Amino acid sequence: MQSRTDRGRLITLEGGEGAGKTTALKSIQTVLEEAGIRYVLTREPGGTAEAEAIRDLLLGAEHLEPITELLLMFASRREHINKVIEPALAAGLWVISDRYVDASYAYQGGGRGIDRHLIEQLDQAVVGPCQADLTLLLDIDPKLGMARIRHRPRTDRIENEQLAFFERVRQAYRQQARQHPERFRIIDASQAKNRVRGEIETILKDFVTATQHQQHQHQHESRHTDSHQPPIDKKPGPPDGH
Ligand SMILES: Nc1ncnc2c1ncn2[C@@H]1O[C@H](COP(=O)(O)OP(=O)(O)O)[C@@H](O)[C@H]1O
Ligand SMILES: [Mg+2]
Repeated sequence: MQSRTDRGRLITLEGGEGAGKTTALKSIQTVLEEAGIRYVLTREPGGTAEAEAIRDLLLGAEHLEPITELLLMFASRREHINKVIEPALAAGLWVISDRYVDASYAYQGGGRGIDRHLIEQLDQAVVGPCQADLTLLLDIDPKLGMARIRHRPRTDRIENEQLAFFERVRQAYRQQARQHPERFRIIDASQAKNRVRGEIETILKDFVTATQHQQHQHQHESRHTDSHQPPIDKKPGPPDGH
């Protein structure tokens, strides 16, 4: 099995419409580039033909049962994982995804009211170990998020939901963050752009440093435990046979 440390890391961006996810991508890229880390940017549905086709069905349909929406979302995600995310991570690249699994807890769980246990089961079966290593939640009052994107044409089924829907989405995102404090960082996305950028850069730099530390630690340990490669500082044993 591939060692955990050879793999890339998966960073996900979450939050409501207009929170600043796309804007945040640039701050993340800056930090990774300065650290010399190779990465790929992606977003759900991830640009695979199959995932896009499923997604078109999902967003274009006039009406869908919430459960149908949930299953399509996970079907599309599975293709994205299989064809884009997993191969990149296995090749040692870092992956930044604009939205990922937490969005299902937020939109299909909080927004549509689907029981979170069902989402957890799908999460386990479909995403399994391919979980985010770091998730930035850009938390914002949906009224403010909406105001930021009022010029944007709203065409898809989910974007046309009412404010109460997006309030529930926000609360469900916050609940996800409480359940997974080890990988979530919540950012107050109502702040000015430069403050949001500053917070994201600090979080990313800390994460990069911690990851590099883990990797060095691991390399050090494997040098000292690998039987094919005796440690260089090993003292010669006592002469035998005398
Ligand atoms: N902190 C901020 N303060 C004010 N406007 C912002 C801020 N962050 C992003 N914006 C603007 O709000 C709009 C939506 O940002 P965007 O990054 O596209 O959000 P998302 O991808 O989450 O929908 C864009 O016009 C962007 O320039
Ligand atoms: Mg965006």
